[in-house]
Amino acid sequence: MYVAGCDVGSLSAKAVIMKDTDIVASRVIYARPEPEESAREVMDAALAQAGITMREIESCVGTGYGRNSIPFAVAVESEIACHGKGARWLIPEVRMVIDIGGQDAKAIRLDEQGNVARYAYNDKCASGTGRFLEIMAGALGVRIEDMGELSFQAKNPVTISNQCVVFAETEIISLINDGRDLSDIMYGLHRAMAHRVASLAKGIELEREITMTGGVAKNIGMFRALEEALGVNLRQMETDPQIIGALGAAVMARELAAGSS
Ligand SMILES: Nc1ncnc2c1ncn2[C@@H]1O[C@H](COP(=O)(O)OP(=O)(O)OP(=O)(O)O)[C@@H](O)[C@H]1O
Ligand SMILES: [Mg+2]
Repeated sequence: MYVAGCDVGSLSAKAVIMKDTDIVASRVIYARPEPEESAREVMDAALAQAGITMREIESCVGTGYGRNSIPFAVAVESEIACHGKGARWLIPEVRMVIDIGGQDAKAIRLDEQGNVARYAYNDKCASGTGRFLEIMAGALGVRIEDMGELSFQAKNPVTISNQCVVFAETEIISLINDGRDLSDIMYGLHRAMAHRVASLAKGIELEREITMTGGVAKNIGMFRALEEALGVNLRQMETDPQIIGALGAAVMARELAAGSS
């Protein structure tokens, strides 16, 4: 039985196809201006990867900010529930998930059964988000993919004092002009952002087994900075952390299909 999950986020769209308990295809694309277009394009790419057509998908659940514009989704679920579900599918002991996407950061606490017990999120401004890091990578002239590794070369990390993305960008430009090392600036950026996200998570009380999802979890510098700010070792996934919301949606589609058969 094939099922699918589709997560149309603010910056990227993700699709996962499962055959029974296996992930047989997963795709990530940049979001298009229209969420429906993002959904179709990313699902077509995943279907091509799996070598099947949409007719073979028994059930598809949609999630993410564009979830109500996914024409082939039979149900929609919140991103919070989907990130919890996806993380738990991969790491059954997980009790807390920190998802940092393009537009917001979320801390999700799960009960022993894996249901969402509490959550907190910050979508008021870009300061704790992937978009913040993208803008800073642009100001520093580095690729977002390289920021994590480069930050480990820091010898004398800077302290970033501005939370606001506009002021932080100006601050970074003046640090570059002062001759500060780029890796010292990157390390300082990760540390500042990790502290903001850690206080969001601490606000709902930390659990023992914590993992990180969302595209920002691919940034190993942010991953380590968050471990330091939380004072814990995070559980690292072997699966691409950016697809966890779509995976959770696929797991929900599986439950729906099983319930209706
Ligand atoms: N290869 C990579 N290395 C480092 N960071 C990355 C990489 N790919 C994506 N990112 C980060 O992930 C962010 C996007 O994350 P994600 O795809 O989870 O967002 P989204 O789901 O579209 O957003 P939201 O959930 O807020 O609506 C980017 O802003 C960027 O900071
Ligand atoms: Mg997301």
